[in-house]
Amino acid sequence: MSILPIAWAYDHVRLIDQTRLPVEFSYVEIRRAMDMVTAIQTMIVRGAPAIGVAAAFGIALAAQEIDTEERQEFLEHLETVATALRHTRPTAINLFWAIDQMLNTARQTVGPMGFLQEKLIEAAQNLAVDEYHTCVTIGDQGLACLPTQPQRLTLMTYCNAGALATAGYGTALGVIRSAHNAQRLMQVYVCETRPRLQGARLTAWECVQDRISATLITDNMAGYCMQKGLIHGVVVGADRIALNGDTANKIGTYSLAVLAHTHQIPFYVAAPLSSIDWTLSNGSQIPIEERDIEEVYKIGDQWLTTPGIEIFNPSFDVTPARYITGIITERGVVPPDQLQQLQP
Ligand code: MRU
Repeated sequence: MSILPIAWAYDHVRLIDQTRLPVEFSYVEIRRAMDMVTAIQTMIVRGAPAIGVAAAFGIALAAQEIDTEERQEFLEHLETVATALRHTRPTAINLFWAIDQMLNTARQTVGPMGFLQEKLIEAAQNLAVDEYHTCVTIGDQGLACLPTQPQRLTLMTYCNAGALATAGYGTALGVIRSAHNAQRLMQVYVCETRPRLQGARLTAWECVQDRISATLITDNMAGYCMQKGLIHGVVVGADRIALNGDTANKIGTYSLAVLAHTHQIPFYVAAPLSSIDWTLSNGSQIPIEERDIEEVYKIGDQWLTTPGIEIFNPSFDVTPARYITGIITERGVVPPDQLQQLQP
């Protein structure tokens, strides 16, 4: 099954509502740029490459909203929406990268405003298509670097770095999909990923849709599974990678990496080059989003704890490069200390 979380539908954007999966598969129709800002903030669409693509469509929608032949006024409106989009989620660099791509297209395109409007829809669509092909290539690159023994591997993944988190196929789950397609996958262990349960809700759903053999575990079972020798490799996605290979990804990724290191299990990060922040020398400079504490004290409407308790909810952590075996990109797989070789 082809899962497309973001699609242009003639004059608006159609998003799969990721807050409702797997209980309900439904779409949200986004017609105004500011509604895209809300959709990213509320995680109707989430996952680093997906929020980049969604933001690109947000800029395309902004262009449709403005009725003027004044180029300066047109560009200023795009900048206003771009600022709102940039303030939605701070950690994934793909968001900022995609917005910059779109603004550059707008600045470099000459002609009447109607032509610019069309060009921006086309640019967002191209970005989505490129993102999809990039993920398929990451899947192939990842498959080639997985341990050669045993023939059928049991892999572990975290959060959702699948089709839903990209423009289809996925990064970490893309590697797992490619392994499945090549009959090199025995099983994937999916960590539930508290607090928002992207593993239990989204990765599990994708695996079931695509008939990938998957086992769901709670996050605190990962060490046990590794100690028992059940896991041959861990593959996760990334929200932002610093020049030295330090990698920000969903909170809990760092704990998995330390566990994998202790058990001498290879730990891979799969991400497009657009997830690399070439301006940051190390991971301590990556901004970490803190989200509403309600995500921790409640599941749905259900309270999990007692009112009055203090709560901390960082949404991402940074895995130091020394725990990462390889970074899988569309241009090849490198150890983290050789990431700079890939710099465009
Ligand atoms: O908060 P989320 O759900 O947007 O976090 C998603 C992740 O951490 C993913 O692992 C990451 O964005 C990579 S997605 C290909």
